Amino acid sequence: MLDLFDLPGTERRFAEGAVLLRGLALPREAELLAAVEGVTAVSPFRHMVTPGGFTMSVAMSNCGAAGWITDRRGYRYGAIDPETGNPWPAMPDVFRALAMNAAARAGYPGFTPDACLINRYEPSARMTLHQDKNERDYAAPIVSVSLGLPATFLFGGKERSDKTLKLPLQHGDVAVWGGASRMNFHGVNTVADGVHPLVGRRRLNLTFRKAL
Ligand code: SIN
Ligand code: FE2
Repeated sequence: MLDLFDLPGTERRFAEGAVLLRGLALPREAELLAAVEGVTAVSPFRHMVTPGGFTMSVAMSNCGAAGWITDRRGYRYGAIDPETGNPWPAMPDVFRALAMNAAARAGYPGFTPDACLINRYEPSARMTLHQDKNERDYAAPIVSVSLGLPATFLFGGKERSDKTLKLPLQHGDVAVWGGASRMNFHGVNTVADGVHPLVGRRRLNLTFRKAL
């Protein structure tokens, strides 16, 4: 059902410390997409393997001082892209500016992300429930930007078994969570097939964190 909270420009507090900023990324959509192309031309999308040996359905890349990686040795942040042997590309200014603006609007002024994970969901990809806990300091929030195909974001509680809220995420939406909900479980339901006019047959997600 479409209600006032689903319109671009509206803000919805969906948990304590968590805010959904509808359409906040729309005014910079072209620059954001060009920046994704620039980063992934240097550090291409790849399907990483979990410590348990499963290949993730979501393809990933990173930019910024620290990139999130997983392989058989575990989950961690590192300055070097293991595929290229070079540092991850620098975080584009348009990324940092959007993340800082979103965090400030959500009540987290002074957020300085040093890591941006870029997730690419092709239809049928999903992200199972997890907590973001590889960062050194949990005081900083998570800023998550959605582009392209829509998806259902699942936002739960501190236990994996807690009930989840289902938030439809559209192209341009930005979700921020921190404070009391920083360690909440979250995930993304299987992305349905479709074609986004600007982004194509995929959903892109930018997850900004202060990792170091
Ligand atoms: C994540 O939690 O890393 C991804 C969230 C999303 O794709 O919206
Ligand atoms: Fe996450």
